[in-house]
Amino acid sequence: MTLALGVLVSGNGSNLQAILDAVGSGTLAASVKLVLSNKGDAYALERAERAGVPRRVISHREFASREDFDRAMIAALREAGAEWIVLAGFMRVVTPVFLSAFEHRVLNIHPSLLPSFPGAHAQRQAVQYGVKVTGCTVHFVDQGTDTGPIIAQRAVLVRADDDEAALGERILVEEHRLLVEVLSAIAAGRVEVVRGTEGTRTRVNLRAS
Ligand code: GRF
Repeated sequence: MTLALGVLVSGNGSNLQAILDAVGSGTLAASVKLVLSNKGDAYALERAERAGVPRRVISHREFASREDFDRAMIAALREAGAEWIVLAGFMRVVTPVFLSAFEHRVLNIHPSLLPSFPGAHAQRQAVQYGVKVTGCTVHFVDQGTDTGPIIAQRAVLVRADDDEAALGERILVEEHRLLVEVLSAIAAGRVEVVRGTEGTRTRVNLRAS
């Protein structure tokens, strides 16, 4: 299956670039239908332009509520033909309105081994806490902040002399690999969602082949 992707961004877009490169080289069976940014000056938009994929800016500031903003994004993504959504450095919380439009089809990449260090500045939190191992997580998005079912994780060792920036750079390298690996697994039908019943979490199985 070829994944029809919508990628939501707010900033640099290096994870978007990893997707674009993997699609371009034929490593990933996907097509980026739309790059959607809530910020007009996001560098990710230039990456999209360079790759020749459609891009759009919808500013959250133009909407009275988060739900109205989400409805506008849903309309743009549907119009573009996006079926799977990747939050790649998208700095807004999406509401249940958005999640129910793309149920179990919204992925996020986070720079820690969840459930440790959710929220902003996960790399800084890891350095300050003094953990020796951190990493990155790709997960399905649910209503909480970085709480959704985990699809895959990759570990990164913390060095004694690491600061937030140095650690963040090494985590990013792994983020780019992991995100493309997960999307490839989804495209190959190797990702299975096992819905939780009362008292058990929804889990995700990723088969190796
Ligand atoms: C990444 O560290 C990602 O995990 C987090 O935001 C950062 C985005 O980086 N959600 P980029 O815009 O993809 O370069």
